[in-house]
Order: sequence, then C-alpha cells, then structure tokens
Amino acid sequence: MTHSFGIDFGGSGIKGAPVDLEKGDFAADRVRIKTPQPATPEAVAEVFAELVARFPQQDRDDAVGVTVPAVVRNGVVLSAANIDKSWIDFDADGLFTRALDREVHVVNDADAAGLAEVRYGAAAGQQGLVIVTTLGTGIGSALVMDGRLVPNSELGHLEVDGHPDVEQWAASSVRTREDLSYPEWAERLTVYYRTLERLFSPELFVVGGGVSKDGDQFLPLIDVKTPMVAAQLRNRAGIVGAALWAEETER
Ligand code: BGC
Repeated sequence: MTHSFGIDFGGSGIKGAPVDLEKGDFAADRVRIKTPQPATPEAVAEVFAELVARFPQQDRDDAVGVTVPAVVRNGVVLSAANIDKSWIDFDADGLFTRALDREVHVVNDADAAGLAEVRYGAAAGQQGLVIVTTLGTGIGSALVMDGRLVPNSELGHLEVDGHPDVEQWAASSVRTREDLSYPEWAERLTVYYRTLERLFSPELFVVGGGVSKDGDQFLPLIDVKTPMVAAQLRNRAGIVGAALWAEETER
C-alpha cells in the first residue's frame, strides 16, 4: 500500500490526512485546524507541524504535500493574489521540510485538485487536454495533458471581456458578494469558459471548488460546446492531490 500525507491550506482552515494513493482516499479521518491570522508562512508552518504530529503512526519517510493558493516553481512561492504578501519568493519546500523534519513539497491548490480529478475523479482516464477550474475566493486552474500536469496555468487572472482580472468578476466569492442568482452567474461563466474554449480547445472542463456540490444548479446553464462536468473529489481534492504531488516529486 502506498501512503503519503496531504495538507490543504485554505483561508479559514488547514486540513490534513494520510492518503492511500492506491484508492485516492484518506487512510484516516482528516484533522482540521483554524488558519492562523495573519497566515504568514512561519505561522502556518507551526500548524502543519501540529497536524502531522496528530498522526504519530505516519511513516516519517513518507513525503508530505501541501497546497497553496499561489504560483509555485521548484518549491518557491512566486505570487500571492489572495494570501499574505510575505509568501512571495518564499522557499516553501525548504522551510517546511525543516519545520516538519520530513520531506515537504508544495503545490498550487488548483493543480493539486487537477491531479486528483485526473487520477481518481471526474477526468479519470481522459486523454488529451483537460482543464480543471476551481471556483472559490478566486478562480484556480489546472491544465492536464494525457494525465500530465502543466503547472501554474493561472487562468483565473486572464483579461476577459474587458475585465482585467477575470476572477474578480466571475469567482464564486463574487457571486456571493454581489448576490447573483445562478442564471446571472452562469452568464458570466459562459463568457469565461468560451474564452478558455477558444484559447485551448480542451477535451473536457472539470469544475471544482466548494460550489461544485451544487453543480446541477448552474453547470447546465453554462453554454459551451466542450463537455463540462462537476469535480468528484469535493473537499478531498486538495489533500489527495497534495499527497499525490508529494509522492511524484519525492527525491
Ligand atoms: C491564485 C491561484 C489559485 C487560485 C485559487 C488565484 O487567485 O492566483 O494561484 O490557484 O486563486 O485559489
């Protein structure tokens, strides 16, 4: 049985669990700890250490994967659209590996969800290009080609229809803030997904993020030609995808 450990770092909670990578599911109940404020790298490192310590049976040799809602290249965080600005240029793999005293690999949150959906979920076995988007505070994206991730696509920051940063017009948080009905929101999402369709001609769109549990209320209203399905891993996608990333990146 192949195990590794996944941590999902979100704005309100930091969640972690050991993951059975054959099944793509938790190997034990996940633990959630409130995200510290401000959520600086040093403050969240302490929470990660506490989380991992809650699973003393976890093998120290298993790598730990961590999602962050930011661009990550070679373990270094390069952006901070919706998180504390102190993350920019932060060597996350290095500091977290020292803080947890085990190998840690950090991955963009939407990339983690994309990996998990393509391996175990809504896009399992899909060949060609799959675009996984997460609709939440912002819009995250993952490009997966024949099962291989092209990291850091950041398609939530495209300029679309005169909106310079599309996530600030079409994310799920905007729907809540502006009190948009599902049909009103779906009009914006149609414009957004048509843009992605025109630029990338994918085989499939997978729509994730917390709101994907209500997918039947708005996905049918999004008028695109490309097949579009709701993500399947729901709130397990971050942890499972992070664990998968850790195992794939392990030295
Ligand atoms: C960030 C992405 C992230 C997405 C979803 C965007 O604002 O730039 O890195 O994947 O939000 O959290």
